[in-house]
Parts: sequence; C-alpha cells; structure tokens
Amino acid sequence: MIPIKSDSDLAGMRDSARLAAEVLRCVTQAVAPGVSTAELDQLAEKAMVERGAESAFRNYRGYPAAICVSVNEEVIHGIPGPRRIAIGDVVSVDVGVRYRGYCGDTAATVLVGVTDQALFELVDTAQRALAAGIAAVAPGRHLSDVSHAVEQAARAGGCSVVRDFVGHGIGHELHEEPAVPNYGRPGKGPLLQAGMVFCIEPMLNRGDAAVRVMPDKWTVVARDGRPSAHCEHMVAVVPAGVEVLTRI
Ligand code: MF3
Ligand code: CO
Ligand code: CO
Repeated sequence: MIPIKSDSDLAGMRDSARLAAEVLRCVTQAVAPGVSTAELDQLAEKAMVERGAESAFRNYRGYPAAICVSVNEEVIHGIPGPRRIAIGDVVSVDVGVRYRGYCGDTAATVLVGVTDQALFELVDTAQRALAAGIAAVAPGRHLSDVSHAVEQAARAGGCSVVRDFVGHGIGHELHEEPAVPNYGRPGKGPLLQAGMVFCIEPMLNRGDAAVRVMPDKWTVVARDGRPSAHCEHMVAVVPAGVEVLTRI
C-alpha cells in the first residue's frame, strides 16, 4: 500500500522539503576547487542545525555523515572526507533532513569549471530526465509512466540509466513505498492518487549503467569509471497534477 498523506502531513512535508532544498542550495553554492567534501558536510550540518532540522542520513543503516557527496565516477552515497574538489569535477550532493517529524530529500549535480561538453550534456540530461518524470505525475497516471518518462529522456540525451537504485516514497520515514524506478514500460503498476509523496531521482552514467559498491560499503561507483550525475526532487501528487516540494 502506498501511504496517502493528510493535508496536515502535506503541510509538514512542504516544510521539511523546503529546508532540504535550502540546505542543498547552501552546499552546492559552496562547491569550488580546493573545498573538501568534509567541509561541505560540516556546512550542511550547520545549515540544518540553524533551521532546527537534523540529517535524515546520519545513522541511517549506519551511514556516518550528514549528506552524501559523490564525485565524478561516484554515482551516489559518497561519504564526505578529506578529498578536495578540483576543476573539472562533477559533484553530486544529496541532502536529507528530518524536521518536526517529516523527512525531506533532494539532490543536485554541479560542474566545477566546465571544460567538457560531454559532462555538460550528462548533467543537463539528468535535469531533463527529472523534469520529464515530474511532468508525468498526475492523479490517474500510472507510476511507471514516471519511470518511463525518466528513461526516455535519459536515452534521448545519450546517457545510461542506473538500475540498481531507485526513487522512493517519503514521509515520516526517509524511504517509504513505493519504489520509483528510473526505467520501465508505461501504463503499469499502481495508479497515482492525490496525497502520494515520493522522490524521483535519476542516476545517469555517461558510460555503461553497471555500478559497484566500494569497500567502504557505501560509495556506489560506475564500473567503467566514467562520470555520473544524480538529481532528485520530492513531489506530491495533488488534485491539479504535481507539486514539487523541493523547488525553491
Ligand atoms: N538520499 C538517498 C536517497 O535519495 C539515501 C541516502 S541513504 C544514506 O534516497 F544512508 F546514504 F544516507
Ligand atoms: Co531519495
Ligand atoms: Co536523496
């Protein structure tokens, strides 16, 4: 069963989502050559605390940091540390907060001093794929219409879709039903209804879709070592169609 949120749940999730988006903006604005990923984590933690929120990631299945920062061939779940950002890097930042009992979750990928058209196209395609998924959300549509729209846009941009990780429902918990794959045939699975809230989060690779998990047990990397991008919005199905909760 996919939870249907009440109006008061939705009000709470607008707040948690907005805070997550604000923290994400703080962090992406700080991404620059020479900044370490641990410094980005500390900045995020500070921005959360200032807003009365806490990380939804820290201690989640033992995750050891406030945010995820995934650089270049790292797809998702990069653990912040001493690594310093360099010119030409592709940096994916994923922020999850818990605020007044509700989670917020959003991610974006930024380029550091763009030099390479292929990298620009990777990030641009990830954003387009997310936008295509969002545009497929409305009451009465099938969940897999969203998945299909994401996949089509990714392919149109010449990127491959990571299949081992998916988007998800969100609410009091970071991960709730349903799973939201970034691939699939349209017209399948559950029908979307007003009050459903979920995260759409395409993970696109410039090279092959295959990934593996590093020995740190978290960092997911592209097997072929080519760059990857990830972006994520939290959306609510509303009577009029879709409301993007993490857009500020
Ligand atoms: N933010 C991820 C997501 O979009 C989940 C991160 S789990 C963590 O669902 F443990 F790494 F924090
Ligand atoms: Co998510
Ligand atoms: Co996320």
